Formats: sequence, C-alpha cells, structure tokens
Amino acid sequence: MSSKQPPSQSNHESGQPEKLWGGRFSEDTDTFVEAFTASVTFDQRMAKQDIRGSLAHAAMLEKTGVLTADEALAIRQGLENIRQEIAEGRFEWSVALEDVHMNIEARLTDDIGLAGKKLHTGRSRNDQVATDIRLYLRDCCTDIERELKRLLEGYLELASRHTDVIMPGFTHLQTAQPVTFGHHIMAWFEMGMRDLDRLQDTLKRLDACPLGSAALAGTGFPIDREMTAELLGFSSVCANSLDAVADRDFAIEFCSFASMTMMHLSRIAEELILWTSAQFRFVELPDRYCTGSSIMPQKKNPDVAELVRGKTGRCYGNLMNLLTLMKGQPLTYNKDNQEDKEPLFDTIDTLLQSLRAFADMTSALVPNTDSMYASAREGFSTATDLADYLVEKGMPFRDAHAVVGKAVAICTEQERYLDDLSLEELRAMSDLIDNDVYHVLTLEGSVARRNHIGGTAPECVRAAIDKARVRLASAT
Ligand code: ARG
Repeated sequence: MSSKQPPSQSNHESGQPEKLWGGRFSEDTDTFVEAFTASVTFDQRMAKQDIRGSLAHAAMLEKTGVLTADEALAIRQGLENIRQEIAEGRFEWSVALEDVHMNIEARLTDDIGLAGKKLHTGRSRNDQVATDIRLYLRDCCTDIERELKRLLEGYLELASRHTDVIMPGFTHLQTAQPVTFGHHIMAWFEMGMRDLDRLQDTLKRLDACPLGSAALAGTGFPIDREMTAELLGFSSVCANSLDAVADRDFAIEFCSFASMTMMHLSRIAEELILWTSAQFRFVELPDRYCTGSSIMPQKKNPDVAELVRGKTGRCYGNLMNLLTLMKGQPLTYNKDNQEDKEPLFDTIDTLLQSLRAFADMTSALVPNTDSMYASAREGFSTATDLADYLVEKGMPFRDAHAVVGKAVAICTEQERYLDDLSLEELRAMSDLIDNDVYHVLTLEGSVARRNHIGGTAPECVRAAIDKARVRLASAT
C-alpha cells in the first residue's frame, strides 16, 4: 500500500469507518492508538445532550442563513432517528469514530448525506464537548438535588417525631451533656442544607453556554450565540472563547460539592454504625438496609452505611484527579481534558446512589429511646448543670467546677449517679445546695434549660424544625 494513499480509501479497505478528520493523513491510525485515544466507550452517555446541542446549533445556522430550511429539516429528522435508536439500544457505536460527537455526526451524514456534512459549520468538538458536559452535569444535578431534598425532608420528619427523646451528646466520643435526638438529627439537616446551597451555587457558574467558541478563537460564520444558549436553557453565553473551551472548573466545583456532601454522609454513616452496634444500641435499622454474615448467624451489618463511608474516598480521589488534570494546562483545549469525564461521571453516580440509599434508610430509622436515655445517665452528663447551679447561687465558676469534680470522684468510686447523692451529702460539698438541685440534675431539666436559638430544649428544636421546613421549601 502506498504511503500516500488517501485515508478514506485505506480506511475503507481495512473495513474501518472513514475518519472525519482524515484529510491530511496518509496512513491509518494504529489500532492500539485508536482505542487508546477514543472516548466513545464512556462519553456515549452524553448522547442525548450531544443531540440537543446539535439541534440548537442547526436551528441557529438555519436562522442565520448558513443552512437552508430543507437542510435544517433533514438534520432535525436525522438526529431524531438517531436519538430513537440510541434510546432503544440499537445504535452501533464505533471506537474508530473516537467519540460520541463523531459517531453521531458520521451516522447523520450516512443517513442524510450532504446536509449532515454541513452541521459542523461554525462549530468544533471543543465547544461541542464543553457544552455537552455542562448540559449533562446540569441534568444530573436535577436528580441529585431531588435526592438531597428528599434526604433533608426525611431528617425533618425523623427529628419532628423525636423532639423529646433524650440521648447523650458527645465530645471526644465521651459522654458530654444530654441532648435531644431531634436536635442531633437537625444537626445533620444543617450539614445537608449547606450542601444543597453549595450545589445550587455550583449550578450558577455552570449556567453559561460555550457554543460559538468553536475550536478556540470563535468563528467567521454568522452565528447567534444568544439563540443557542437560550434554546439549551443557559441564561448566558461564555464571555471568552478561549476560556469556554479550556476550563473544566465547573466539574471540579461539582466534585468539590460532592466530596463535601459525601464527607457529611460518611460522618452520619459512622454514627449509624456506632449507634447500631450492640455496645450502643441507640437505633435500629430496618432489616432491608442491612446484610448478614455467612459464618456468624447473629450478625446484622450496617453495610449501606459502611459503603457510603467507603465510597467517600472515591469521590475525594476523583476531585484530586480533576484538580491535577487541570493543573498546568496551557490554554486552550488539550486532549488531557478528555480525562475529565470518567471521574466526573463516577462522582455523579456515587453521590446519587449514596443520597438515595441514605434518604431511604435514615427516614426508616427507629430510635431505641430506653437505651439512649440510660446511656445519657452514664458519664455524669449533668455535671455541668450542677456547676451552673452553684454559679447561679453565687459561687465563682472555677470553684463550682472544683466542687462538682469532687462530687464526680465520689460517685465514680461508689458507682453512683450524681442524683443518687442525698441532700446531706451534697450540702457537705457546698452549703449553697438546696432541694431544688434535683431538678437541675435530671436529664429533662438539663435539656429544657438550653432553650435559646440553636439550643437542645425540645421547644427550641420544634421551633427550629418549623423554620427549617420553610427554609427547605424556599431553597429552589
Ligand atoms: N473526545 C474529546 C473530549 O472528550 C472531544 C474533543 C476533542 N477535540 C479535539 N480537538 N481533539 O475531550
């Protein structure tokens, strides 16, 4: 075979589809290189968005007179057929055609001829792919936002059912002070609300259309960038063509939001893992969210929570991957950017599944109120309340701290609770103590007194839930 043979011929001879960019090449792409450089195996999941982008581009070219009405119609019908075939799984993807964009374009040209070849006028795969990823990510964010909101609604329901349930609050995983279960769940809610806010913020910067930037410098053809942006539901066009085709910061920002959300889920997962253990027995997870052991018949493992905790690592990895991918890349598009998709897609899938699993699982949590209450009595959780009581009676806080410290030491030695001490014993430590001290030493008294905004008192948690419902409903 002569090395000067046109590629179309040699490709046809080798049974391969013709390369859309083959004009200047004099030999076939090495088979390994072809597979190595292809992205169609993973970017075909953006096919719907690619077709949407092409439809908008064609409509715009028709309006500006680059395409005739007949050509535009043929393109519309051709793309519609292709969309159908892809949806039904009948479309044959070819690695030789490299990516989703060229697979669809080549097929369109096969089907409708000349008009298909004109679709790429005033466009490049560089602005095409930058548009497709944005469209794809935006579509996925709709699902993610829905699942995140479902999770948050679940927290609100769970919290509102248990505003009066008392449990130990922890610092250093040591019993600190009694809190209400509803209050604890509302802490999860606050974490998730900030995640939702971050997601919505990410979407703002995603909301600009790269189409019209072409390869990098824009195009000499008459185009109407506002029209394509509007057809695709973007509220603006990217202001600089070089930046539009080059940057993937929106994907990094999404992965950062996702990492943060997964970090929060992993913390909640860890609590569920602890709380369902025989040592804590704070909550019961329905059997349908747990699995058993093949050897130990008694086991009921919180696998879903553990997997979410584990999958968090994958999302952090994907974020690092993208940051490193972008680092040091000169303007504008470089093939490196083809590597943006797999980590982004993996993050989308992981986050969506984790949110779904959590929304289902957490709303079905059943607290074991007796265990929580009993546990809150351990560890002298009302010691601070006794110190505060002495302060209210006129003792400086440092002295009160020391007096209560002694009381705790006595109780530890004698294996008693603070409220087991008789008034006489208590008065021996400080004569400021009176009968009203017993109200202070109870768990109910302790939580009820913390009745300010953000406090754990049941009435405050109920007020916080009411406000939260309004906040969530208006977070659109
Ligand atoms: N498959 C490519 C990607 O994902 C599309 C853009 C290719 N552009 C190019 N000039 N090679 O980035």
